[in-house]
Amino acid sequence: MTPRRFFIETWGCQMNELDSQRMAGQLMQQGILPTHEAAEADIILLNSCSVREKAEQKVYSRLGEYRLLKKEKDRGDLLIGLCGCVAQQEGERALSRVPDLDFVLGPARVGELQDVLARRRAGERVVATGFPEHRPYDIDAVARHGEYKGMVTIIEGCNKNCTFCIVPQTRGPERSRPLADVLREVRHLLDYGFQEIELLGQTVNHWREPGGEWDFADLLDQVARLPGLQRLRFVTSYPRDFTPRMVEQVGAHANICPYIHLPVQSGSDTVLRRMGRGYTAAEYLDLAAQLRRARRDLALSTDLIIGFPGETEEDFEQTLDLVREVRFSAIYAFKYSPRPGTAAPRLDGAVDPEVASARLQRLFDLQEGIQREINEELVGEELEVIVTGWGKQAGTQMGRTPCHRIVHFDTGAEPASLGSMTRVRIESALSYSLHGRRSAAAVLSAV
Ligand code: SAH
Ligand code: F3S
Repeated sequence: MTPRRFFIETWGCQMNELDSQRMAGQLMQQGILPTHEAAEADIILLNSCSVREKAEQKVYSRLGEYRLLKKEKDRGDLLIGLCGCVAQQEGERALSRVPDLDFVLGPARVGELQDVLARRRAGERVVATGFPEHRPYDIDAVARHGEYKGMVTIIEGCNKNCTFCIVPQTRGPERSRPLADVLREVRHLLDYGFQEIELLGQTVNHWREPGGEWDFADLLDQVARLPGLQRLRFVTSYPRDFTPRMVEQVGAHANICPYIHLPVQSGSDTVLRRMGRGYTAAEYLDLAAQLRRARRDLALSTDLIIGFPGETEEDFEQTLDLVREVRFSAIYAFKYSPRPGTAAPRLDGAVDPEVASARLQRLFDLQEGIQREINEELVGEELEVIVTGWGKQAGTQMGRTPCHRIVHFDTGAEPASLGSMTRVRIESALSYSLHGRRSAAAVLSAV
């Protein structure tokens, strides 16, 4: 029987989100449609993340639940695939541990989904992992459903050796896409009506033209000039790879969003050295200041790891100091979690998990106050908002500012169409969101 419905569960970062869109697109090209109910699906894909926690255990318990669907519903024809970073990490092992698992598809092999399904139908339990030289990528086969930003990968993999991180193993060595391919895909999305483009890479600002001279500053300049592009974002930047030319580009193009995600990980030089990050807290602060000189309205967000081996109370205090000084618009902070095949678990000075939890909580408390203060400063301003969805109450919608802040707003007489830009006057602020109403001029110009 031909499969008719697929269900994809996605964990992790933007690259996984895009990989899920690519898998969905390939299936839809075959006439297989998405469903939100795993129980209704003929194909279930688990797109996994292995950055933190007991990723493998979580994956195996999830696969166990999906297996039950096969058994309970007597659905021998249901196909279950493990995709994403745990797929790359586990490979064959996943097939032997889960008897009903049909295939394992690593992140660098996403473009081969149709081929893998065909091989499975011919009887083979496929393991498609590793990092082949040739990686098919059909830009027409991407289901960009429910998104008002078009995501475009510019660089795959990672060549850094942060001692805590599993990503270089699961996503392989760094590979930049040629600028011509990137421009072609961005133009394609703009023709489609996307107004916001997000460039993706684990170290997005380490992009280099393959075999050429251009770097990320040149790419930013060329992409930002494309007609019709209203908002350009990029994620994730590596602090040490930011050059003055890149900073200059951020200042030069009004359509580059004044928002940069710049993971710092720690405010202590000792911890940064043990993490292998290659910069000091002072160098990070200097870069943050340069970026803010280039764009006065710039918002910075960051990632932090708390309780890295050897982190003392004093190291942690330095992290708090850095957070106080930079005043991030958002932070993504987690307790350190040891990952297989990385160097950090061999370091001494393991931090007691309770101490790490208490530190994490102190960090969140500090940040919550900072965010509330920053957001309160926006009350009374009129901001441009891209409309991303409907609010919980009738007559309300939600969207994002150029700085990526979430805004809930009253629509006024007419709601704005999803994906369009409108203007919202901010009336109140919480730590994690802004609230306001669509400005009268924006409502009038729309009717
Ligand atoms: N360059 C990538 C990094 C991927 S990992 C990106 O930012 O998209 C994302 C974040 O997860 C890292 O910045 C780090 O803060 C966190 N992280 C990675 N490995 C971790 C570990 N072993 N324990 C806790 N957090 C980790
Ligand atoms: Fe991971 Fe460091 Fe690369 S955090 S993704 S090894 S830049």
